[in-house]
Order: sequence, then C-alpha cells, then structure tokens
Amino acid sequence: MRPRMARSCECLLGFPRRKEPMTTTPVSPQALAVNGGSPVRATLLPYGRQSVDEDDIQAVVSVLRSDWLTTGPKIAEFEEAFAALVGASNAVSFSSGTAALHAAAFAAGLQPGDEAITTPLTFAATANCVLYQGATPVFADVTADTLNIDPEQMAKKVSAKTRAILPVDYAGHPAQLTPILEIAGKHGLVVIEDACHALGAEYRGRRIGNIADMTVFSFHPVKHVTTGEGGMVTTSSQRFAEIMRKFRNHGISSEARQRQSAGQWHYEMVQLGFNYRLPDILCALGIQQLKKLDANLARRRQIALRYTEAFREVSGLIPLAVRADENPAWHLYPVRLELEKLTTCRAQIFRALRAENIGVNVHYIPVHWHPYYRDQLGHKEGECPVAEDAYERLISLPMFHGMSNQDVEDVIEAVNKVIGCFRK
Ligand SMILES: Cc1ncc(COP(=O)(O)O)c(C=O)c1O
Repeated sequence: MRPRMARSCECLLGFPRRKEPMTTTPVSPQALAVNGGSPVRATLLPYGRQSVDEDDIQAVVSVLRSDWLTTGPKIAEFEEAFAALVGASNAVSFSSGTAALHAAAFAAGLQPGDEAITTPLTFAATANCVLYQGATPVFADVTADTLNIDPEQMAKKVSAKTRAILPVDYAGHPAQLTPILEIAGKHGLVVIEDACHALGAEYRGRRIGNIADMTVFSFHPVKHVTTGEGGMVTTSSQRFAEIMRKFRNHGISSEARQRQSAGQWHYEMVQLGFNYRLPDILCALGIQQLKKLDANLARRRQIALRYTEAFREVSGLIPLAVRADENPAWHLYPVRLELEKLTTCRAQIFRALRAENIGVNVHYIPVHWHPYYRDQLGHKEGECPVAEDAYERLISLPMFHGMSNQDVEDVIEAVNKVIGCFRK
C-alpha cells in the first residue's frame, strides 16, 4: 500500500502547462506496436481502477473485529456522511448501483403498463430496472455535444403511459436537469437521475444528489469512491426513503439490530422486497473512501484538463463538450473519432491503442441494440441516430484518480501515434 500513497501524492502535483506540438507528421505503420513496433509503455494501463489505502484497510478490519458485519452502526454513519456530502436529506444504501436503481423504480411506483423514458447511451442497468418492475423502457436520443439525453427528444416520447424519466449523467457530465424537471413537472413524472458516473459533479452550482426526485450512485471499483460493490439513492422525499429502506430488507418494517436492542422478536413484511443490503464491512470502506472524494475529483479534473488541452488541436478526434452550466465529475474520458478524417475504423484504432498498452474501452453499445432488447422487446437500429452514430466512433481513454502524470502522458503519446498513423 505504501507505494500507492506516495504515487497519489505525486499525482497531486499537477501538470506543467505547455502547448502541445501539433501532430502533423505521419507515423509509419511499422512503428505501431500492433504491427510489431515498440509499445508506448511496457505494461497495460487500465481504463479505470480503484485506489485503496491503509486507512481503508484498517476501517474494514475494525468492523471484522466487531459484533456487526452487516446492518450495524456503519450503515447509518455511511448514509449520513453521504447525504451531507451531496446536500440531500436522505441517503439509502444498497448492495449495488443496480439494486439502488431497482429500489428507485419501485419507489416511483413503476408497474406493468407504465413507460419510463431513458437514454440509449448508458449501461444496461439503467433501462433494466424499468423491466424489473414489469414496465417498458422508452429510449430518447442524445444531444451531439455531451451525449446526454436530449430534453426535446424526451418531451416527444411522453405518452399517457409515461410515469418516470431516467436521465443519465454520461461520463460524469450532468444531464440537462432544468428542462428535464420542467417536462416532469408538466406531466407529473418522477425523475430518477442515474448519477452512477457523477458523484461530485455540479449542475448550475448545485452538487448532483439533491436535484432530481431520486438520484442513484454506484460504488463499483472504477467509480470515484468504492465499496467493491455498492450503491446509494439520495432523495428529499421521506416517503421514497422509507419505501426504499424496506425494499432493501425483504419489505420488512424493522431491522434485526433494532429488534435486538429493543428485546423484540416480532416483525412484519409489509411490501415485497429483496435482500439488497450493503454490509457494515463495506459501509466502513465507503466512509473512509468518501473522505478522499474531493481529492479524487480534483485529480480527475486535472487529468481531463490535460487531455483536453493536448487533444484540442489533434485532427481526427473530438473530446466531449463541457457546457457552461456544469462541472463534470469525469468518471470517463470518452473521445469520438472523426472517421471521415481517418483511413480506418474504430475497431482498428482500438486494437492499435491496446497494443500500445493503453487500456481503452467503449461506453456504450446503445442499450436498444443488445440482443435481449432487439429479440424480446422489438427494438431496432435507427431508433436513436445521434447515439448510434456516436457509438461507432467512441473510445474511452484511461481515466482514474490514481493515474500518474507519466500514465497521462503515455496516453497522449499513444493517441498521437495511432491517430497520426491513420490520418488521411
Ligand atoms: C450508468 C450506470 N448505471 C448503473 C450502473 C450499475 O451500477 P453497479 O455496477 O453498481 O450495479 C452502472 C455501473 O457501472 C453505470 O455505469
């Protein structure tokens, strides 16, 4: 663990501001690692990765030595710290972001016959939670600049059956929440914001987490803060919070620890629920990780700035736009390839970057293109042309708070090398 801590201190030093040389000189194909040339770096840099330090480990160990491994005092402590951090009045923890989405869909009252509108450019879990409730996901296209759901397209998809809207803060860029809330207000819809990418992001000066009716977060290892697996819903509605607390505990109205301290055995199951509880062991990890959120965000913003500066003049790729009213959390750093300016396709660029030991990824295959959505639900290509065109061009570059300055420079060098080889 020691070397990792030293590494993250080094990271906070930041980058020297310098003007990037324009990469106009063509690169010979033989220089590419995919064709037998030397890779830019010797080991694979993943696209995302957790940072766990000695304080995190000690926090987990102390719970392992205590009486309560699950549903003990650490749950309330984690939830309170989280709620305070995003400025929400309630935070309800779950065993994953997916479980949290399911609980929010349940609390919103989604049921068979209802529709919920979401974006196709997301992880399948966002739309799947609608299916878990027997309701129907409806996809509205994205805007070309940020690849977030387009409120105009969303408004066109509202029908008499619509009950909820699920905007996603893609890559950590907040969705256009003001127009989305206006549409929801006009039609009486519940807004469940999927902020699994956006812990710490700001929209119009407010932290994500207290703007929508319910806001959902994930603590998967590639996120800003991790518990291994875990999720959270924040809400200002006491009613939604109470429904979700029961939902994660089989629909039972009290918890085992409350019954033990009150000397009672009696409990009642009042709604259908699941075991979606986040154990105390993981809440302890979450409490420690939360303390590093601001430093993690600052580092991600530094990396994004450096990438954006480096790629500004590079012909052949376009980073996501940052709108004036947002401060993104930079969960991902996706770029779109300008295929018209290149001699090859995304798949070849992807392979070439991997060969340079840059662990690129793609976020996302449009949800309605997955076989389940096509075969079982009748979706097809062409439903969301902006998202579909973007998908063919997207590549996510490595982005995580533990990246060293050298890691970042390696990515920039590899991108320049590969794009330089395939530019027309
Ligand atoms: C946008 C989005 N929604 C939902 C999820 C599901 O979260 P989890 O993996 O914690 O279940 C993810 C996970 O990466 C995600 O990226």
